[in-house]
Formats: sequence, structure tokens, C-alpha cells
Amino acid sequence: MVERGRAEKKGNGAAARLRQRFPTIDDLRRRARGRVPRFGFDFVDGGANDEICIDRNTSAFQAIELLPHYCVDGKVTTDTQLFGKTYAAPIGVAPMGSAGLIWPGAEKLFAAEAQRQCIPYVLATPGNASIEEIAAIAPDVFWFQLYRFPYNDHAITYDLVRRADEAGAHVLVPTVDSAGKSKRPRDIRNGCRVPFPINPWTTWQVLTSPAWTMQLLRNGMPITANLVPYAEKANQNSTAEVMQLRSGGSHTWEELKRLRDRWKRPFVVKGILHPEDAERAVAMGADGIWVSNHGGRHFDGAPASIDVLPAIVSAVGSRATVVIDSGIRGGLDVVRALALGAKFCFTGRCFAYGLGALGPAGAPHVADLFLDEIKTELLHVGARSVAEAATIKVRHPNAWRFDNY
Ligand SMILES: Cc1cc2nc3c(=O)[nH]c(=O)nc-3n(C[C@H](O)[C@H](O)[C@H](O)COP(=O)(O)O)c2cc1C
Repeated sequence: MVERGRAEKKGNGAAARLRQRFPTIDDLRRRARGRVPRFGFDFVDGGANDEICIDRNTSAFQAIELLPHYCVDGKVTTDTQLFGKTYAAPIGVAPMGSAGLIWPGAEKLFAAEAQRQCIPYVLATPGNASIEEIAAIAPDVFWFQLYRFPYNDHAITYDLVRRADEAGAHVLVPTVDSAGKSKRPRDIRNGCRVPFPINPWTTWQVLTSPAWTMQLLRNGMPITANLVPYAEKANQNSTAEVMQLRSGGSHTWEELKRLRDRWKRPFVVKGILHPEDAERAVAMGADGIWVSNHGGRHFDGAPASIDVLPAIVSAVGSRATVVIDSGIRGGLDVVRALALGAKFCFTGRCFAYGLGALGPAGAPHVADLFLDEIKTELLHVGARSVAEAATIKVRHPNAWRFDNY
């Protein structure tokens, strides 16, 4: 069994009280909405265009039925092997850029909790903490997500890869689903951009969110920390400018191949929805495919990632590790994904809502909810392990069907 420092192990009554007051992710989301400035909450909660894809993601999970086996004896374990490591459960923290908007200092809190619980934490390229800072906090569980910087023959891209390698990131995760600019109406209405507009409306939001504001004062203005070496100054505007002017587009197949050849540890391509793209990524040398629609933040017309998962597993599941995010809101969704062939799950927003709602107690509470629920739902379906969950019978009415997968 993976040893982890869970709060309840120490007989912590506070953790039990949180479980009673906030038993679901939706409880945390509601509380975060009341505690975080509107621009920060909407940045995390919102999505592209009409935000249909966000709802599609969650309702697609809800539509999936699992057929339980009863009369099964034995202890349940959630321990999960992934890329040669054993994690405490098949759930990790997905990469989120500018997570400091929901709670200043978010990345360090995510990393510390992931290390404590032994679950993966994926630092985003545009995160508000650097590769080196996160490596020091979460040396055993830290992965790095990579965006594309075509400027100057990818000099920044390759330097980020070098730094992630030297810092000991376990897995490199190039994201490919950010081909164009995303249009997020809530961010546009809130004026959520860099440089951040200081006007009566945003000032009011900050002043009426005292816990968030105290945290901002302690942490300072969030910056795109990984880009400091490539910026004129180590401040918000300068680092955000590097992101805006120097990055963009989807890594091409040829670029992915070059990255693959440089990176000697596991390589997982994030943002795959088409089984043909999954095939191509595996043929190019990817160890893993991360099925995702970016939580509906980029392309509102995308299918729910869970609805294309079975076709992708059928295409590449025997040759690569398939993991998934977008719409997972609890342990039952994790077990649904496992039953459909995913080897591991991630969520971004659940952890972000936890921080917005509870500050430093948020990530531990969300991790506790997931770990407990995964175990309970495995018991409910009659599976004693993550491997056994893959054998559970599933009804998946909205699954995409392809002739050849
Ligand atoms: C606020 C926010 C920022 C994000 N930033 C990134 C990013 O920088 N890189 C990336 O690959 N994915 C990013 N994502 C997408 C997540 O990694 C993940 O795919 C998404 O959160 C899954 O949706 P869910 O959390 O609603 O289940 C971001 C998501 C959120 C909510």
C-alpha cells in the first residue's frame, strides 16, 4: 500500500467536519463562488462560447451505467501503477495555467498535497510557480505540461524541456488542443486579461473577497513564473507578454517527434480526441495518450472526452497508456472511466474549487473526497482493485462509434 499522510490518519476532526459540510465538489464550487473575486472564479469555472461542452462533459459521465457484481469478498486497494510508479489512487491534478486567480499560491498548495497523498501533479507551462519551485515541493509526483513556443526555432520550448528534465519531472505532457485563441465570454466581460485592469468594478470584487485578498498580499501578484528567464522583467506584464507573443498553436507531428527524441522519460500527448490522432501519436513514440477537451475551455463543439475514450482505447490501448480528464467530478466518474479502459484520471476544476472554497484546506479535502469515493465506488461495483474495475460491464449510450475502431 502507498503510504500517505492523510489527515484522518492523524485523527484530524477538521477533515471530518469538512466532509460533513462539503460532501461534494458542487458544494465547494458554490462556496468558492462566494469567496473568490468574480473574475477569478469565472476564469476557472467558465468555458468557450456558450459553455455547452462543460455541461456535455459532466452529463456524458452521468449517462454511463455500471453493472455491479455482488458477493465479492476481499480488501479494496486504490493503488495504481503508472509509468513505473505506484500512486495512491488513479486521480491526479491536471495542469492549470494562472491557477493563482482562484487562489494566490495555488500551484504550491496543489504540489504539496499531491506529494503528501502520492498522486501526480502536472505543472502547467503558464502556471504561477516555476518548474524548479515545484520540483522542490513535489519531487516524487511532479509532471510538466508543455505549450508550444515557435518563436526563434522553438528556443523557449526546448529550454523548458531542458529545465523540466534537470528538475526531474517524471512525465512530459505536450498539449495539442490549443490550436487557436479561445473565446471565453465570461473572461471578456470581466476584463480578465493582462495587464489586469484596475477599475472600480475589479477593485470592488477584490475588496469584497477578504480571504482571497489576504492570500494575494502574502503571495504577491501572480506571474507566469516559468517564463521569467525569457522575459524583460520578472513581473506579471512582462512574463504574460512572452506567453502572448511567443507561444501559440498546436505542436505539429514533426515537432512532437523532435520533442519525443529529446525527452527520455515518459511522454504523454494531451488533448487527443480522434482515434486517428491517438494512433499517430503512438506511432511517433508517445507512451501515453491523454484524452481531453481541455475542460471545454477551447472548443465548445468538442465531444465529451469520455464519449471518445472507448474508440481511443480500442485504437491504441494495447500499445500505450490512455488517461483522461474533462468532466470528472467524483470517485464514481473515475470508476466509470476505468471501466471504459482509462488507466488513470485527472481533474483540474475540482481541485481549483477546493482552494477557492477552503484555501489551504481545499486541496487536502478534495484529495480525501476522491480517495474515499474511489474506494467506495470500487466496492459498489464489486471490484477490489483498479485492474478489476476494467472488467466491469458498462452501458455507454453516447459513445462515439467509428467503423474501424
Ligand atoms: C483554469 C484552468 C486553466 C487551465 N490551463 C491549462 C494549461 O495551461 N494547460 C493545459 O494543458 N490544460 C489546461 N487546462 C485544462 C486542464 O488541464 C484539464 O484538461 C481540464 O481542467 C479538465 O476539465 P475539468 O477540470 O473540468 O474536468 C486548464 C483548465 C482550467 C480549469
